[in-house]
Amino acid sequence: MNTEDYKNKIIQGDCVDVMKSFKDESIDLAITSPPYDNLRNYNGYSFDFEGIAKGLFRVIKKGGVLVWVVGDATINGSETGTSFKQALYFKDIGFNLHDTMIFLKRNPIPQIYRKRYNNGFEYMFILSKGEVKTHNPIMVDCLHAGLKLNGTTYKNYSKNNQERNKMASPVKGQKIKGNIWEYVVGKSKEDQEAKAHPAPFPCRLAEDHILSWSNEGDLVLDPMCGSGTVCKIARSLGRDYVGIDISGEYCKIASERLNRHQKELKLN
Ligand SMILES: C[S@@+](CC[C@H](N)C(=O)[O-])C[C@H]1O[C@@H](n2cnc3c(N)ncnc32)[C@H](O)[C@@H]1O
Repeated sequence: MNTEDYKNKIIQGDCVDVMKSFKDESIDLAITSPPYDNLRNYNGYSFDFEGIAKGLFRVIKKGGVLVWVVGDATINGSETGTSFKQALYFKDIGFNLHDTMIFLKRNPIPQIYRKRYNNGFEYMFILSKGEVKTHNPIMVDCLHAGLKLNGTTYKNYSKNNQERNKMASPVKGQKIKGNIWEYVVGKSKEDQEAKAHPAPFPCRLAEDHILSWSNEGDLVLDPMCGSGTVCKIARSLGRDYVGIDISGEYCKIASERLNRHQKELKLN
């Protein structure tokens, strides 16, 4: 298929098969979240992790990014470690493990665990095909903005520099946000739109990644798009999208969400 044939479409099918029809290096950014350790049943569909990983590596452009949001099940008292195994597999097939970020939930589901703290986060592995080509960092206010502090130091990991150096004084007004991002899950009006799906992303999470790792006009893929959160937010931020889901029911939810959004844009 030509890129134009899958741009701004929700496609029903197994993403391993569907991606086979995509051109090499045609995707700027992929954001997705797989079924975790069969924690949820998603209408009983199977999941070929290695096939998906290889397909994603082929279709993502050089310098493009994959955001893989994942967590582990706890089975017989032990976390499965699937998330880490997947991150290491992505490295084995050629991705850089650019960053291990945390999706912190302000309202995690309460659990009854013996001798264990309540699980309140998921991993967001940022994988890149070579050096990241786009990073529009989200900035936050510095706690000590304007203060003349002695001994404030920084590390420049981007240049393989692990040493601590003195920072300019006074402290700057803003700095790049940290890699733990916190969201309320499923409560906002826009997130409620997707409640017919068992595990939609918070819209703000999709927005923060799309703004960070892509520019207007870029093509954003979610190969397991569920309710279409990534596609909807990509469209609203002037990016093109392509969403794939194996379930006809979820594709319908995603398409209806995008159509509603398109109508709202026309009304405004
Ligand atoms: C965690 S959910 C994604 C939710 C999505 N991020 C959202 O905001 O709604 C995982 C999705 O993967 C889909 N899925 C499972 N196996 C798949 C496959 N082989 N190809 C495409 N989609 C698949 C499921 O139907 C489910 O909707």
